Amino acid sequence: MEISKTVLYVGVNDHITDLFEGQYVVPNGMAYNSYLILDQKTAVMDTVDIRFCDEWLNNLEKALDGKTPDYLIVQHMEPDHSGSIVKFMEKYSDAQIVSSIKAFTMMKNYFGTDFSDRQVVVGENSTLSLGERVLTFITAPMVHWPEVIVTYDSLDKILFSADGFGKFGALDIEEDWACEARRYYFGIVGKYGANVQILLKKASNLDIQTICPLHGPILTENLSYYINLYDIWSSYKPEVKGVFIAYTSVYGNTKKAVEILAEKLKEKGVKVSVSDLAREDLAEAVEDAFKYDKLVLATTTYNGGIFPYMNDFIHHLTERNYQNRTVAFIENGSWMPTATKVMKDKFSASKNLNFANTEIKILSSLNDKNLEEIESLANELV
Ligand code: FEO
Repeated sequence: MEISKTVLYVGVNDHITDLFEGQYVVPNGMAYNSYLILDQKTAVMDTVDIRFCDEWLNNLEKALDGKTPDYLIVQHMEPDHSGSIVKFMEKYSDAQIVSSIKAFTMMKNYFGTDFSDRQVVVGENSTLSLGERVLTFITAPMVHWPEVIVTYDSLDKILFSADGFGKFGALDIEEDWACEARRYYFGIVGKYGANVQILLKKASNLDIQTICPLHGPILTENLSYYINLYDIWSSYKPEVKGVFIAYTSVYGNTKKAVEILAEKLKEKGVKVSVSDLAREDLAEAVEDAFKYDKLVLATTTYNGGIFPYMNDFIHHLTERNYQNRTVAFIENGSWMPTATKVMKDKFSASKNLNFANTEIKILSSLNDKNLEEIESLANELV
């Protein structure tokens, strides 16, 4: 695949991983992107997961068409991109590795060698001339690892953005960008919004015509759409006005309250999304919690606390700096309901959360008072 006359795609699609990074379902697979830049000097941008090393080296060899690479540029050391470094360095014994000093430390930890006699260490605004083009390196610490750099090619006006602007999904399956990019962003990068904001500021000084991420499609058109979403996500602003309801239910009574609330909200013209946390993808629920401006949490009191799936869900939100939203609570308990208090306490360190005034306490099953409270909550959330 040509990105420009002299920048070629040499990445691979993964349809065998069940859980990406050990926790994210990837029903449409994953892409590990890698690029070849052909100039007077030849540079390869990142490697791929070791399980796809042979396929990648084969892609690379074909694209090189008899040339040999001068540089391997390593932007990120997570093994989905760094896994094939050693094999590359063995195969192309004259190539040098261009990377940040922190990445070389990680290479030593991962591989037992940091290729000390073949290193080119780069930092903020370091440049590397390949002949016609100059590459500029921009540090992107904690987006989402500390060693990350991104790379700007001033000739083709390409930003090689590392994991930034990546998504779940292999490149041989077409699907909506935002849905799987948002799930990827909040799952993997979401905690580091402030660091993404810093990177976006640095990138705003560049004339970017193409974004080449390490996952997902190469972005060539309407770049402001993608950059604007990244700005919203990384500044923790809600993206959509509406209500996301996350619940757990043991015998169906809490679920019934959620269904009635969702119906009432829809009747009032509110956009609503609902997730059963015990049965649906947790990362999708985290994504929706950040997407909407209002969140309803409904769960049972359990072992003096809250049902485990809800406990886990709230932890995923708070560790990703969940903020700037309204949160409402529905609790259920057969003898001493404490779930609302426990849920609220879990948000005690969160910033800019507004708790709804209407709180619903279900004592085992819904009564008439609960139905009135659900109506009040629906009105409050409109
Ligand atoms: Fe795609 Fe952070 O590795």
